[in-house]
Amino acid sequence: MNMKRISMAVCLFVAACGGEDGGPAAEPTAYADMSFEERVVFMNDVVLPEMKEVFVAFDPKFEAMSCATCHGNGATDGTYTMPSPQIPVLPGTEEAFLEYVKDPEAARWSQFMLDKVSPRMAELLQVAVFDHETNPNGFSCHNCHTLEGVPGGTP
Ligand code: HEC
Ligand code: HEC
Repeated sequence: MNMKRISMAVCLFVAACGGEDGGPAAEPTAYADMSFEERVVFMNDVVLPEMKEVFVAFDPKFEAMSCATCHGNGATDGTYTMPSPQIPVLPGTEEAFLEYVKDPEAARWSQFMLDKVSPRMAELLQVAVFDHETNPNGFSCHNCHTLEGVPGGTP
């Protein structure tokens, strides 16, 4: 992980970075506090390159990763709404999920998503990752994936 590179990229669009009049450097804006336009810039400069690295380590086909890989049609209609109905729909219950990961490919992908994708994405967004006991509303699979039988894809 390279925090320095991230904060530098964030600095590119935070006008107050470094303080022109010699004042103290401003903290980079957190994702939650960004405007929609700032989020577009942040996704371009930080999220896409950082997440591409994560995905390519799993499968070289992700050299071609783009905004649409995660956002589906939201990347072309400009809404960037998540979760995205165009990425694979995941099972909506724990029982169905356990059934789903009996398939070795589903299990392999899920393990990668759990170990690498979710934690890295949460880190970039500066939010805490989901935890059954301690953080049930934290960042999880369904921030990106819709879930079967759940309207709008989010429980
Ligand atoms: C690895 C997956 C991934 C990629 C690649 C990605 N994004 Fe995102 N993006 C997300 C996630 C996840 C969120 C939603 C965060 C949340 O609110 O939970 C998001 C949110 C956004 C938002 C904010 C939407 C809102 O409602 O405020 C914008 C705008 C956006 N992305 C633009 C882009 C652009 C432009 C690109 C390509 C340069 C891109 N994204 C690439 C995962 C991704
Ligand atoms: C930052 C967004 C994001 C998060 C968070 C995320 N995924 Fe994914 N996932 C994706 C994208 C994008 C793809 C599709 C990649 C492609 O184009 O092949 C994908 C693909 C998958 C696949 C492959 C399905 C198939 O049929 O090919 C599985 C399984 C999967 N994810 C499970 C999970 C699980 C389980 C979690 C939570 C632990 C999770 N994902 C979290 C973005 C995400």
